[in-house]
Amino acid sequence: MKRIVVLASGQGSNLEAILKAVERGEVAGRVVMVISDNPNAPALERARKRKINALFLDPKGYADRLDYDRAVIEEIKALQADLVVLAGFMRLLSPLFIKSFPMQIMNIHPSILPAFPGKDGVEQALNYGAKVTGCTVHFVDEGLDSGPVILQETVPVIQQDTLSTLHQRIHASEHRIYPTAIDLFCRDKLKVEGRRCFIVD
Ligand code: GRF
Repeated sequence: MKRIVVLASGQGSNLEAILKAVERGEVAGRVVMVISDNPNAPALERARKRKINALFLDPKGYADRLDYDRAVIEEIKALQADLVVLAGFMRLLSPLFIKSFPMQIMNIHPSILPAFPGKDGVEQALNYGAKVTGCTVHFVDEGLDSGPVILQETVPVIQQDTLSTLHQRIHASEHRIYPTAIDLFCRDKLKVEGRRCFIVD
């Protein structure tokens, strides 16, 4: 069983989807800790409800980003985690963090990358007038939403869409593909060559 640490700052609906998939036996791993930079993140509560360790690490308690990241790295190493899952973690990770877990950090982004990277991926697609958008699970490298793509799922943009309705549909799609990508990792089915991530037997 692979050991997973989830970093989340907010609602944690992706965390919830992952935890439910784990409970259903659909992910060959277990979440050993949830770490947040926000003491009021519902994500922490979702973990506690299930007796999963939930840790708030206060950025204000550290001199700078690097110092904070060092603390998070230490926690993750102490847990001997195999995979770090970013689920709405609102902090930029330092190069040190990324180098500490090469191809062991996953993120989900609410667009079909490389379109609409960065903040507000849903709003960018809507304002651009795209007819199709979606979500992307990718490994994290040192660029902005630029690591090798693991899975993507498209979501149509309809005429009546508002930011909220489009967001909802993308969220539903995220909740499908994130657990699947994590399970593939946990079963050692992902092989990265350059930018390409292959699913192997
Ligand atoms: C998701 O939309 C994801 O694409 C982005 O952050 C959001 C997290 O939502 N990276 P939640 O906290 O999992 O509900």
